[in-house]
Amino acid sequence: PPEDTLAVIKPDTGHKEEILDEIRARGFTISRLKDTVLSREMAEEFYKEHRDKPFFSQLVDYMCRGPCTMMVLMKENAVEEWRAAMGPTDPNEAKQMAPKSLRARFAKDMLENAVHGSSNTQHAHQKIQFIFGDISSESVIIDG
Ligand code: CMP
Repeated sequence: PPEDTLAVIKPDTGHKEEILDEIRARGFTISRLKDTVLSREMAEEFYKEHRDKPFFSQLVDYMCRGPCTMMVLMKENAVEEWRAAMGPTDPNEAKQMAPKSLRARFAKDMLENAVHGSSNTQHAHQKIQFIFGDISSESVIIDG
């Protein structure tokens, strides 16, 4: 059965349309989409799993500095498939291991790595709920 994941195009990538094209080319259905400028409070909550990391405050600054494109992507095995589409967090590794991945193509560095995706199905449900509210009983709105 199809699965949902939360995907984010981070601020200032400069390549939003190409990233959306790649998402569609890889066979994901974009069932929700909205552009949102996160408050600091929201960004801190969104990334709470990383709050003890040395880069946490930089990460929050980055995520708040302009609109994020928030999406629910739907596909068979969507969580894993979206992580494969993004490639590794480190763009140098991405260029080596997955040269066609979004981070290989569009990440600036380890912090400004263009895209985000949930790491497992539990996080996917949590983060979709956090960004979009309870959509489980709603009809699907293609491309928001
Ligand atoms: P993301 O997949 O959204 O999850 C956590 C984010 O923290 C990651 O992408 C990067 O934007 C950032 N990040 C992870 N590791 C580092 C690092 N070593 N230095 C700076 N930023 C990082």
